[in-house]
Amino acid sequence: MLFFIDTANLGDIREAAELGILDGVTTNPSLMAKEGIKGDANVLRHYIDICELVGEAQDVSAEVISTDFKGMVEEGEKLAALHENIVVKVPMTKDGIKAISHFTRVGIRTNCTLVFSAGQAILAAKAGATYVSPFVGRLDDISWEGMNLIKEIREIYDMVGYTTLILAASIRSPLHIVQAAKAGADVVTCPLSAMLGLLNHPLTDIGLEKFLADHRKVNG
Ligand code: E4P
Repeated sequence: MLFFIDTANLGDIREAAELGILDGVTTNPSLMAKEGIKGDANVLRHYIDICELVGEAQDVSAEVISTDFKGMVEEGEKLAALHENIVVKVPMTKDGIKAISHFTRVGIRTNCTLVFSAGQAILAAKAGATYVSPFVGRLDDISWEGMNLIKEIREIYDMVGYTTLILAASIRSPLHIVQAAKAGADVVTCPLSAMLGLLNHPLTDIGLEKFLADHRKVNG
């Protein structure tokens, strides 16, 4: 399973990249706003900074703001031209599906975002999306079992033979990451806190303390 970090914060991206386990980055307009990135030129520059920070072979999702087909195509082509790492993130709407189909035809990679049902995931795959992003946490927020959607999409994609990668999004905890892996997600995107949370186990801390104490007893 690939690991993406879900943020536009350069410090967090750098910290995750330094672990050596990072495969890519996802951003969205809210995450960009959270970092105070505003104005077209600054937004585009920030995407380039992210791409340069993570280096080769790391997909960086950059989301279009336009909601109509023509606007999405213009914006997406501009984003894709910024850097080879860029994957154009397109919302799951009728115009979004048209735009993804267009991008597929011209060889631009896409991430279909804001997916909340298996039917939407089928449409994304049919349009040739590189990634489909089912939002697990936001389903949990409304008392639906978000992880069931990952399992359902996995089952359908395997049965039909769709090659779109399932990118478990809106992942908020280490447990979510483990569950996404068990549900068959190809990729998980999460904040740095969830990624680092995977490191923790009290027995690891106790065990390390004991090893070091024993070493000190003999070696001073
Ligand atoms: C995915 O690409 C989205 O940017 C993100 O995972 C949404 O997460 P949230 O529901 O925690 O905002």
